[in-house]
Parts: sequence; C-alpha cells; structure tokens
Amino acid sequence: MTGTIDIRPLSDVVGAIVEGVDLTRPLDDTTADLLRDTFSRNSILCIRGQQLAASDQIRFGDLFGPVDSGFRVRSGYGGQETRNRGVMLVSNIRKNGEQIGSLPDGEMQFHSDGAHRDIPYAATTLYAIKLPSVGGDTLFANLAMAYDALDDDTKNRIDELQVRNLYGYDDTFREETTEETEPNTSAATHNLVKTHPVTGRKSLYLSRLMTRHVVGMDRGESDDLLNILFDHAERTEFVYAHKWLMNDLLIWDNRCLNHARTDFPGSEERLLRRLTITEWHD
Ligand code: OGA
Ligand code: MN
Repeated sequence: MTGTIDIRPLSDVVGAIVEGVDLTRPLDDTTADLLRDTFSRNSILCIRGQQLAASDQIRFGDLFGPVDSGFRVRSGYGGQETRNRGVMLVSNIRKNGEQIGSLPDGEMQFHSDGAHRDIPYAATTLYAIKLPSVGGDTLFANLAMAYDALDDDTKNRIDELQVRNLYGYDDTFREETTEETEPNTSAATHNLVKTHPVTGRKSLYLSRLMTRHVVGMDRGESDDLLNILFDHAERTEFVYAHKWLMNDLLIWDNRCLNHARTDFPGSEERLLRRLTITEWHD
C-alpha cells in the first residue's frame, strides 16, 4: 500500500520536497522511479521528519546508483555508524579530544563533492542528527542556471576547456589546499562544462574551494577567468540556502550543483550522517 506522494518545490532556484514516502522500509518500484525522476529534474530531494538509521540511508542511496563503501576511517558516533558501508559523519563533536566526524568547524566554501577524483560523486546524501541553534546552513548553487546565464562569447570560450581540481582532506577554504605533493591532497582534471548524463543539460563544473587552474592556460589568464566564473556561479539568484530541520534527509546532485556551508557557533554541536553515490555510466 502506498499513500499519496506529494512533491512541491523546495525553493525558487532548485530542489523538491517529497512527502508521503516511508524510508524506513523498502520502496516499491513505482515510488523508486518517481524519486529518481524527481531527483533528475530538481537536483535536490528533501525528505523531512523521519527517524532514519544508517541502513535506511544506505537503502535510499542505493536507489540512485552505487553507494560508496569501505574507506571511511574515523570512528563512528557511539561506535555504530562506520560498520555501515560508506557512511561518514560530518560533525564538530569531539570525544576525548578526537573528532568523531569530518569537516568539523564553521564555514565551508563552494565545492562539488568528489571533483578532485577521476570518478566524482554523482550525489551526496546528508541526514541531520544534531543542529546548532543558528547558522550551519548548507547553500546550493544551481550550476546549470549559472551556465545558461553566461553570454554566448563566454560559453564559446569555455566549452572545450578543462580544469584541475585539488582537495586536501577536511579542507574548508581554498587557501588550505596545498600542492599535489602533499600526502592528503588529491587532484583530477575535468571538463569545465559538464553535460549531465541523465538530463543532457550543460552546467559549469568548477568551484572556489577546489578548482586551481585551467589546463594549458597562462596562469594570470586562468586566474582571471576562474575568478569571474567563481563569482558568477555564486550569484544569489542561483543560490538556495537550506536551513536544516532535525531529521531532514537531503540528496543533491554534484554534477550540476555546488554547495557550501555558513558559519555556526563552535560552542554548539552539529552532526549529520553522510553517504555518497559514485558517478556511474551506462
Ligand atoms: C559535505 C558538505 C556541508 C555541510 O558533507 O560534503 O559539504 O553543511 N557538508 O556540512
Ligand atoms: Mn561537500
């Protein structure tokens, strides 16, 4: 038995709120297809107010492609979570001086998860377990809208370019990211304009946190172009700020969105459970 599923916009810019699905149980094929289709067309799904175990989040992630497994190293909240494949905690909580999760503190610049890997993450799911009283919003920038809004000259100029992306573990600001020789930094080259494998729509694919230079371009020229594109991609008309509620589950599409985080008080606890889905190709 399925009740009525209600889908409405999450914002003017991007996303859908889905009501009437119970993610604590396996979904029937019709509902799963509806969620996949809604996700492709809206780039974020927000499902609110459900008590989800890590296993529920993994079952949800499995609907959208191969979930990541096996390399999450930090010990889990209550010793539980890392027994579940691929699950990572995003948290500023420390136990005995040790972080229980990753990306602990404060503001984080715009980025796309996995853009520093040869095979990035198609999507990320994040489930809110503890939230600060203020701040810690996740911002989403719609990079398909940003691409469409470029003038034709700029589109022609960038259509065939590639960029080099760098990321060091737990970096939240560009300045922290060091050169390829640092042990915890990884890097990958990707097309600056990405065609979405499902929708066929073009997006910018670069970010202030990760993108270092345009491949084969003079450094000064590359910096000038990237700075223009970073600013453009972060314009407020392309950005939705998600104010988390407890037990919100979001899935977002890293192939056509960037995300960032606003600052929040270090004196308050924030904890979200994260699971990524690798890009797949038919
Ligand atoms: C992430 C991330 C932002 C946040 O988990 O990849 O960027 O709001 N999180 O914690
Ligand atoms: Mn991220």
